[in-house]
Amino acid sequence: MRNKVVLLVFFVAVVFVFSNCDRNKSLNPNGDSELAVLMRAMADSTDAWKQMTLQNKMPQKFPDAFLKIHTATASDSMMKTPEFDALATSYVEGLNLFYQSSPSELKTNYNSLVQRCINCHNSHCPGPLKRIKKMVIEE
Ligand code: HEC
Repeated sequence: MRNKVVLLVFFVAVVFVFSNCDRNKSLNPNGDSELAVLMRAMADSTDAWKQMTLQNKMPQKFPDAFLKIHTATASDSMMKTPEFDALATSYVEGLNLFYQSSPSELKTNYNSLVQRCINCHNSHCPGPLKRIKKMVIEE
């Protein structure tokens, strides 16, 4: 009986340590995953792009680092499904579209980019959705 309890506590602890998804601060003793670090940079840039878009300013230098979304290792390898790759491709397409916007398309393409974050997070990592939804520019 006691062994079962110890095993259960251990199992819960392992799951907790390895799932970064529903928290903003990681307790992972091995440090944050590459993907989590990348996501934080993507979120910061998107916040900045929202402010720029609201002022009708075009984005500056293309963030090449974000193309690593396909290869960055996640805290849980189970997250990197074939569907993840398709959703990551959709994000990169959204990024290209946003950077190619004419001034009149900026807001639409910005919101389309944020929608691509939401599409992946709906199925792969719902924790940050609350924060991401605030990035949408209301029509
Ligand atoms: C293709 C899927 C996918 C796309 C697109 C995506 N995310 Fe993520 N995101 C994830 C996964 C999976 C994690 C969990 C990473 C981990 O724990 O290793 C994550 C984690 C996060 C986190 C939490 C990071 C942390 O500190 O642990 C934030 C915030 C986030 N994403 C914001 C965004 C924003 C903003 C966008 C769009 C600009 C975006 N994501 C696009 C899949 C995606």
